[in-house]
Amino acid sequence: MDFSFYVPANIKFGRGKADLIGSEVARYGKKAFIVTGKSSAKTGLLERALKQLENEGVEYEVFDKVAENPLTTTVEEGAALIKETGCDCILSMGGGSPLDAAKGMSLLAKNGGDIDDYIFKRAKGEFTSYPIVAVPTTCGTGSESNGTAVLTNPATKAKKGLAYPCLIAKSSIVDPELMETMPKSVLGPVTFDALCHSMESYLSPQANPFTEPYSVDAMLYLAKYMVRANDDIHDQEAIDGVTLASTMVGAAFFVAGLIAPHGMEHPLSGLRNIKHGRGLAALTPTIYEHSISGNPEKYAFVSRILGGKDENDCGMTIRRLLSRIDLEVYLSDEGFTEDDVEWLTDSCMTLSKARLELNPKPLGREEVAEIYMESM
Ligand SMILES: [Fe+2]
Repeated sequence: MDFSFYVPANIKFGRGKADLIGSEVARYGKKAFIVTGKSSAKTGLLERALKQLENEGVEYEVFDKVAENPLTTTVEEGAALIKETGCDCILSMGGGSPLDAAKGMSLLAKNGGDIDDYIFKRAKGEFTSYPIVAVPTTCGTGSESNGTAVLTNPATKAKKGLAYPCLIAKSSIVDPELMETMPKSVLGPVTFDALCHSMESYLSPQANPFTEPYSVDAMLYLAKYMVRANDDIHDQEAIDGVTLASTMVGAAFFVAGLIAPHGMEHPLSGLRNIKHGRGLAALTPTIYEHSISGNPEKYAFVSRILGGKDENDCGMTIRRLLSRIDLEVYLSDEGFTEDDVEWLTDSCMTLSKARLELNPKPLGREEVAEIYMESM
């Protein structure tokens, strides 16, 4: 046996924990750079956080321009502002997009250079970051419990992750009550994203004795609560369960890695800015059907957790689950045509090669193109 596990996540979990935002930020700095999207103003979370910061005597600057599938250009803009305004810590609030963008901004502001050099691992050396307090308001990416961020370059449409332990939040405040402001159109895709993180980190050959229990427990929670949460966002037990699963598996996949479905999805949301969870829904069952021979026992285990019989019905079992949360998606529904397959395949083979090679059955160019075609 040979493995390593280092995920220093500091998680405060529970209903009402959003009241700790001010005191947690005050532990790490005197002026906070707040990274968020537009929705935290609408839901009242931004105002709630600002009041707490004022009570703690913490100054702040608000950067609320982060949109879905965050851009490297937004990260550059935010990083410049962190330096200009003299902020010494970061508060990220919202879905995975603000949380991921905040990581990119923190890395760039602290260490300088070009964000692409970090994404493509051309930058060498030890890096540091501003302390981050993360407050997720969606239960999917698990960004609050790891040092991963996924960014898209708007000029090339290249969507790719960067990962450094220094980007793990100093404090993550995970309050399931905040999830209840999500629209249904967001809840389905994010909970399926969490399920994909659980399944992929379990199926990954890099899974180890520390990551597997997180992945399996997260799958069990999602199998039990995902449909209930999607049927009724105010079902507290179900929302608590899917939120816990999402956060828990964030730590596991930081170490175990993600496999072909994430590798093949990123070109989709990179090219057409679709919801990540919808892209995963369109691809995952078909990719699994192509991959069973790589590890039939593990695909059978996943299938049984989700209500299936064995490895052969894994894809169908996932499709059945998707139909129960109104997430049966085809790539054509998302605006893709057969003419896109060559670009998607090229992007995937260039940017996601490691995830394709990590798949239980490694996927080559022809099979990747075939899967995109079958998923139309
Ligand atoms: Fe994901």
